[in-house]
Amino acid sequence: MYNTLLTDLQEGTMVITINRPDKLNALNKDVIEELGKAMDEVYNNAEIKTVILTGAGEKAFVAGADISEFTALDAAGGEALARKGQELVFDKIENCPKPVIAAVNGFALGGGCELAMACHFRIASENAKFGQPEVNLGLIPGYGGTQRLTQLIGKGKAMELMMTGDMAGAAEAKELGLVNHVLPLAELLGKAKEICQKIQGKAPIAVTNVIYCVNEAARGESSGFANEIRRFGACFSTEDMREGTGAFLEKRKAIFKGK
Ligand code: COA
Repeated sequence: MYNTLLTDLQEGTMVITINRPDKLNALNKDVIEELGKAMDEVYNNAEIKTVILTGAGEKAFVAGADISEFTALDAAGGEALARKGQELVFDKIENCPKPVIAAVNGFALGGGCELAMACHFRIASENAKFGQPEVNLGLIPGYGGTQRLTQLIGKGKAMELMMTGDMAGAAEAKELGLVNHVLPLAELLGKAKEICQKIQGKAPIAVTNVIYCVNEAARGESSGFANEIRRFGACFSTEDMREGTGAFLEKRKAIFKGK
């Protein structure tokens, strides 16, 4: 179905694997197009409850945008590339109503680091390396890196990483707050799936509202508190809220329907 992606839907979790291992899964036009389509599938297919994004092979999550496609671009072309990617893929991931977790299995550089950061949170293998090395190419991040890295790790660290182009290993990335868990590579996908199963046991509409509210906070939107109040209220009109509170009081396990 896809040329540059592998997709696998099991137990409500769609694993999307970027599959160009010989080019360290670099994001060329085809990958961006197909990631956009895969995210449309995630939005539209009710059987998909949670998503894991990862890279093929044992070396890279994604080693960046495909640098070989940069040479033909002028200023307008560069701007169009960044805009299209952000709209088609990165924003769609960030705003996805279903949880999207990055399982970072190696290099996450440039667009790869940005892709991981667009996901709702990240776990990484011990060999993972994060960085925004665009300054080495005379560029800046264009897929949201200046914004999301600053949100995630703070201004000073973000400035240093983006000015020096240095990579942060998995342990440092965890210390920075860029990743939540670090595991041996062989255990990475299993852990991601385990987290997905746990989330799938919770009330889906509530989980979606968590995503929307936290995204607003991360973006520093002034409407965050007001929207939290509104969304908190809206949860009271769901069947799942009746089920969750009722199950607690009856000392039984809640069974949520996403209604
Ligand atoms: N765009 C296009 N091709 C890329 C790429 C990218 N971002 N990253 C890696 N590749 C390709 C290499 O050109 C090479 O292709 P080849 O075998 O046809 O020559 C292949 O992937 C393997 O990469 P290689 O550089 O040989 O592996 P390495 O282990 O020596 O180095 C990296 C790994 C990640 C340090 C190195 O590939 C790198 O610096 N990549 C670019 C990172 C970057 O600047 N990303 C930001 C882009 S905006």
